[in-house]
Amino acid sequence: MLQPFLNLKTTVIRLNPSAQTHARIIDGKALSAQVLDEVREDVRALAAQQIYPALAVLLIGQDPASEVYVRNKLLRAKDVGIHSLEHRLPDNVSQQQVLQLIQRLNADPGVNGILVQLPLPAHINEQAVIQAIAPIKDVDGFHRENVGGLVQGDEVLTPCTPSGCMRLLHETLGDLSGLHAVVVGRSNIVGKPMATLLLQANCSVSVVHSRSVDAAALCRLADIVVAAVGRPQMIDARWLKPGAVVIDVGINRIDTSSGPRLVGDVDFESASRVASAITPVPGGVGPMTIAYLLKNTLIASELQRAERPISYPAVG
Ligand code: GUN
Repeated sequence: MLQPFLNLKTTVIRLNPSAQTHARIIDGKALSAQVLDEVREDVRALAAQQIYPALAVLLIGQDPASEVYVRNKLLRAKDVGIHSLEHRLPDNVSQQQVLQLIQRLNADPGVNGILVQLPLPAHINEQAVIQAIAPIKDVDGFHRENVGGLVQGDEVLTPCTPSGCMRLLHETLGDLSGLHAVVVGRSNIVGKPMATLLLQANCSVSVVHSRSVDAAALCRLADIVVAAVGRPQMIDARWLKPGAVVIDVGINRIDTSSGPRLVGDVDFESASRVASAITPVPGGVGPMTIAYLLKNTLIASELQRAERPISYPAVG
């Protein structure tokens, strides 16, 4: 008799079960350089056909972290030859003005990707802004049409950070089939799409969050841990099974006796004594996010060429 819940195939163990060794560093900076080379090559091929993909980036207000992220995105876009248009709007801009700008960008055939840097000032409704972006130009993959498509396994614009994490995992482990992945955090930007992508890669997936009973114990069952909670160094060696692969999405600024320092959601020092491989902060997931934003800009441009004319959502 068939036993559908028993995997009778022998799982190839590629994880390092030794607690003595120091984890391998998963170099997101080096891998992102490779992804950016792929993008640069595609940009060149498109230019030969007189196609010049362009990305519009909206920055509202003066959040210092957002300023840094946007600056890095624009710099990398320039590096690979993607034309970018920066729209800086003051803190007190009205929601209606933001929606009108998005409507203009939606209708502009010279703009292929639209990114609104989050978080937004409190008086602007984040969902209203995200849902106003034409799904085919939504390079963040946050529009509900893209979210729904992702869950159903369609080829849609997919959130950049989870895409970058998947590439890091595939480069580290190859096939992920049958592995148990625990995603810590359930945000729309990272946790939920990450869990969806891991499921599509045939992992067994658990999502651990602030209401989970004994999150550390659940995490200790994982072959793969993706930490995306925004809590500095919350996950340490006690949360990890020996040999686990750890992807740290967190970027947190902390003050130390020697000045401010960037740390992840994982306590790197202790975790790297138990894990088999781990991403550093900085230099892990961050650069991959930007590389996948630029890849998405090319995908958006391709989708638009395949699907003219585009229908754009109305702005109320
Ligand atoms: N703020 C933090 N992460 C992101 C992201 O991936 N996209 C946008 N638009 N804003 C962010």
